[in-house]
Amino acid sequence: MEKYYLTTPIYYVNDVPHIGHAYTTVACDVLARYQRMNKREVLFLTGTDEHGQKIERAARERGLKPIELADQVVERFRQLWGKLSISHNDFIRTSQERQYRAVAEIWRRVKANGDIYLGEYEDWYCVHDENFIPGLQEEKPVCPDCGRPLEKLKEASYFFRMSRYQEKLLRHIESHPEFISPPTRRNEILSFVQGGLRDLSVSRTTFRWGIPVPDDPGHIIYVWFDALTNYLTGAGFPEEDSRFSRFWPADLHVIGKDILRFHAVYWPAFLMSVGLPLPRRVFAHGWWTVEGKKMSKSLGNVVDPGEVADRFGVDAFRYFLLREVPFGLDGDYSQAALVGRINSDLANDLGNLFSRILAMVVRYRGGEYPPADTGPEEKTLIAAAEKAREEYHRLLPELAFQSALIAVWEFVGAVNRYLDRAAPWNLAKDPEKKGRLDTVLFASLESLRWITLFVSPFLPDSGVEMRKQLGIAGSEWNDGFSSLSEWRVSWPPGRVQRGRALFPRIE
Ligand code: MSP
Repeated sequence: MEKYYLTTPIYYVNDVPHIGHAYTTVACDVLARYQRMNKREVLFLTGTDEHGQKIERAARERGLKPIELADQVVERFRQLWGKLSISHNDFIRTSQERQYRAVAEIWRRVKANGDIYLGEYEDWYCVHDENFIPGLQEEKPVCPDCGRPLEKLKEASYFFRMSRYQEKLLRHIESHPEFISPPTRRNEILSFVQGGLRDLSVSRTTFRWGIPVPDDPGHIIYVWFDALTNYLTGAGFPEEDSRFSRFWPADLHVIGKDILRFHAVYWPAFLMSVGLPLPRRVFAHGWWTVEGKKMSKSLGNVVDPGEVADRFGVDAFRYFLLREVPFGLDGDYSQAALVGRINSDLANDLGNLFSRILAMVVRYRGGEYPPADTGPEEKTLIAAAEKAREEYHRLLPELAFQSALIAVWEFVGAVNRYLDRAAPWNLAKDPEKKGRLDTVLFASLESLRWITLFVSPFLPDSGVEMRKQLGIAGSEWNDGFSSLSEWRVSWPPGRVQRGRALFPRIE
């Protein structure tokens, strides 16, 4: 069995989860489920980033110890992932013992390779982004990325010889076009690296909340050095050799565009220094605004994903996130857009088609699967199914969620047109056309089987419900997408079981 290792960023615990966090995690979940249905052994890692000055401060403001704040917020993340049907196999916290061991080991190896030296950092720092911003001339500069005021640091610091890896990194990016996506982001990184890499400050001495430098515990390891290493820890580094060699390198890191530089420059440079293979792919998605505005606590427009899911349905919310905007571009969240999508795509198109077909099988066949035949009229339908399958498998691994869904919905449309042409309600009036009616009903059911498989990674709960209503046993589904290798003309004996409406219309 081939493996597939994918990761979300690990989320800071200074704040509760919002739609941006849900977005990355849901996208990864769809891919994880998709790969499992492709019979890959999936390792899907998510977790929390708990160290650093930002968390230390946030805890202090609340009168808590950093670990107490982390424990509280981690609970919120865990609950949310449960609610959103996230199927991660592991949840890493950087405060865990295993992370301390991995980070210290990476540090030692980088140092042994001559890539760490002691110096002094005297320049600006953005606590919000946990980012060093050297070389600004203004009196009171703001962060070029997030716009917040910067703080001046002057402290002893260990440095990582990033400059050493400029050429090697350039060559890697150039010879691996798939390493950074989408292409516009890849170009940004290319020109950044071409502009020259400075050595990076990788330790701090003016706060305590983090992993101490081995042999020099007065220094705390830079939070991004710590955080990025989680991807190795999650695969078992440094202890579990067989697990680690099975799963590393990661197949995919999904992240937001704001943290691409850390993943596409710093991270590969660290890995090159310790001689480990680089992740196969880093994909940076866009950002959500809310009703046209940047999401922020001061504007009070932060979208709570748990609330949206409670009110409109988990699957509906997941569908909206991935259908509304092409992955990689920015998008705008609004309740009107969400409700519009639910009513048109889910309630009208998919939900209606499903209940219409099941109702006919109940009305004309007492719910039993009809025997089938395939005639010329089914040819077009089968061609449409196969086209959807090709597109779906081409687009999903490229993280083109929106286009993959559009391809599936085109097939939904094709089934609707097939039904309109075949008009089973007319066939049912003529006893001589019983054979033809059976064929049309079976082809419709087979279409629903295909659609159910296609939508299952996106709509996991509905997928299970659809399968139940189609009356197909769980064991029949275990072969995943391989069961779509051919259009079936019979199913094992059984019957449909009408159940709840899949996607009720929202008024
Ligand atoms: N802790 C770091 C990541 C370390 S990974 C080794 C971090 N955490 S974060 O909690 O601030 O952000 C996590 C992710 O949420 C980022 O990928 C970021 O892009 C994403 N988003 C935060 N706000 C967002 C939107 N408004 N829209 C979409 N995604 C957004 O960064």
